[in-house]
Amino acid sequence: MVNHKGGVGKTTSTLNLGKALSLHGKKVLLIDIDPQANLSQSSGIEDIATSIYNAMCDSAPLPIVNIGTNLDLVPADLDLSEAELRLQADVNGYFILKKILKTVHTKYDYVLIDCPPSLGILTLNALIASTSVMIIVQSEYLAVKGLQTIFSLIERLKENLNADLTILGLLITQLNPTVFRKSIAKTVQDLYPKYVLQTIIHQNITLAEASSAGKDIFSYDATCIGAKDYDALAQEVLTK
Ligand SMILES: Nc1ncnc2c1ncn2[C@@H]1O[C@H](COP(=O)(O)OP(=O)(O)O)[C@@H](O)[C@H]1O
Ligand SMILES: [Mg+2]
Repeated sequence: MVNHKGGVGKTTSTLNLGKALSLHGKKVLLIDIDPQANLSQSSGIEDIATSIYNAMCDSAPLPIVNIGTNLDLVPADLDLSEAELRLQADVNGYFILKKILKTVHTKYDYVLIDCPPSLGILTLNALIASTSVMIIVQSEYLAVKGLQTIFSLIERLKENLNADLTILGLLITQLNPTVFRKSIAKTVQDLYPKYVLQTIIHQNITLAEASSAGKDIFSYDATCIGAKDYDALAQEVLTK
């Protein structure tokens, strides 16, 4: 789940798409690879002894925490901010996550990686470890700017580092009924008709409330529009 802009809905989408897939009986692993550790916090996991940082930089076993039926999490913490420098100093620094996941990915139907708001070495680790990428786009001013940067990066990765990487889709989030936001969503659809996912995530304050309560949307309020949207997204992903 990628976008180098922050606040677009990557973390919210990782948690709630993952939970929705788990409710459809799929075995799901969520990976927090953002030093801000928002995914871990939104999953109610804080003050952990080991994080993905220890697995990536100190060869510790990958810490996997169960957070629900069919749903596991690899947490992050602020230490991960040191990882960038350490990984850059390692000749294999771009491939660490891929190597780590080789031993676990076969146990899951889906592994969702919540990227930090940058296209640095942590996000590149995620893109190299992945079979496909979902680009999260907020229906907001300047949302379209920067998308080309992500597409170019994906093309470059496909040349060499991850030839099989596919684009699962562009997910438009935080849509509200204003003419302005609708027009941005329309612009994204016009520019990237091949890629825009059918499901659009509406702006829904309940999603923000759930994450500050350390819960996914289905546990917090399964009847809200946010829960309906993320369930629709899971169904679209399953059919794809
Ligand atoms: N569809 C939505 N409606 C309302 N608020 C949302 C929605 N999606 C995300 N948010 C809120 O917006 C903020 C940024 O979302 P987040 O998922 O953390 O973005 P990112 O991971 O891309 O930085 C959070 O406070 C989150 O609760
Ligand atoms: Mg985030």
